[in-house]
Amino acid sequence: MKPRPKHYILTTLLASPLSALPSAPLTHPRPPLTLFTFGDSYSSTGFSPLGPPPSFQNPLGNPEYPGITTIGTADYTSLLPSTTTLNHSSLRLYNLACGGATIDDRIVATTDPPWRDDRGVPPYCEEVGALSLRKQVEDIFLPYYGPTGARKANWDPNHTVFTLWFGVNDVLHIEDNVRKGRGTATAYIHALMASYTASIAKLYAAGSRRVLIFNVPPLDRLPPSSTSSPSILIPTIITQLNSLLTTLTSHPHPSFPLATLTLLDAHALFSSILDHPAAFGIKNTTGACPPYAFSREEELWVEGCGVRRREYFWADGLHPTSTVQRVLAGEVGRVLAGDREMGDGWSGS
Ligand SMILES: *[C@@H]1O[C@H](CO)[C@@H](O)[C@H](O)[C@H]1NC(C)=O
Ligand SMILES: *[C@@H]1O[C@H](CO)[C@@H](O)[C@H](O)[C@H]1NC(C)=O
Ligand SMILES: *[C@@H]1O[C@H](CO)[C@@H](O)[C@H](O)[C@H]1NC(C)=O
Repeated sequence: MKPRPKHYILTTLLASPLSALPSAPLTHPRPPLTLFTFGDSYSSTGFSPLGPPPSFQNPLGNPEYPGITTIGTADYTSLLPSTTTLNHSSLRLYNLACGGATIDDRIVATTDPPWRDDRGVPPYCEEVGALSLRKQVEDIFLPYYGPTGARKANWDPNHTVFTLWFGVNDVLHIEDNVRKGRGTATAYIHALMASYTASIAKLYAAGSRRVLIFNVPPLDRLPPSSTSSPSILIPTIITQLNSLLTTLTSHPHPSFPLATLTLLDAHALFSSILDHPAAFGIKNTTGACPPYAFSREEELWVEGCGVRRREYFWADGLHPTSTVQRVLAGEVGRVLAGDREMGDGWSGS
């Protein structure tokens, strides 16, 4: 198969936010799909490679739905099996994400998960620290699921997608470092992108052929923090990093000639929801209400918060609510189901 340039843009969603709602159900059976998801607290569910493995009967493996997420309620990974585009498919999902992760901990330090004490934490993330993309690939994926891995998942490269969502912690740390006179944003970003590419190369060498890369959402629209003033550096750093992620996914990459790298424009998706909140049932896009920060109740209503938890965009000062995660899951589901371009093999028969 000759790889074609892939650049996934949320054109439909941007044109009409309501188009994120269910599309027509699939009419023909799909081959079983295996997912390996890598990421930070936006994606982490506390999955352990040592626990019950994911299977087509039990797509998430462990822990039970919705997992141990940072926000308390479901994130896009735990919601994927129930998206309308994937709920007819056989799907299993290995979620290797760890809260606090950066692209490469040797370049930008990972964030210690702040919920360490009271929330229950992914056991291996806890033991090894907030694993970066580099470590999630080297210390978790390869030893467990690589060609000579300890946990055979028997994944077929043609029907296995690797999703990578990193950059949130990187951008925040880079901003802090640059403000303190420790290096330039450009130098950090170029070093991180080299590492990002090296991690993909390791996955490629292990057989990975389909990679879905999320870019960095508009962190300049996070709720204002009491501890720091808004930084004009943040959007600049995001633009730089996202533009390199776009380039990475725009052309067949010389180092991965047989791989399909697709961009999932999380920046456009978040912006679209923030700009049209009512279309998604969201009433508060600017703040976060502390009692809602970690709750198992999407419907929770606390008087001082004004509206229900699910009507907030932000669950806390950094993480979007399940309402946002659900829209994201819908978009990811459509890419994976082949409604969007993701190479020929998966959307075939
Ligand atoms: C994977 O897909 C490619 C391109 O469609 C095809 O040539 C190859 O035989 C497939 N491999 C397997 C194991 O199905
Ligand atoms: C898939 O989702 C649709 C829409 O929510 C629902 O009607 C259908 O029952 C679901 N199918 C399965 C197999 O869960
Ligand atoms: C959004 O939520 C925050 C935190 O609860 C609150 O301070 C703010 O007034 C709310 N904004 C609107 C427009 O309701």
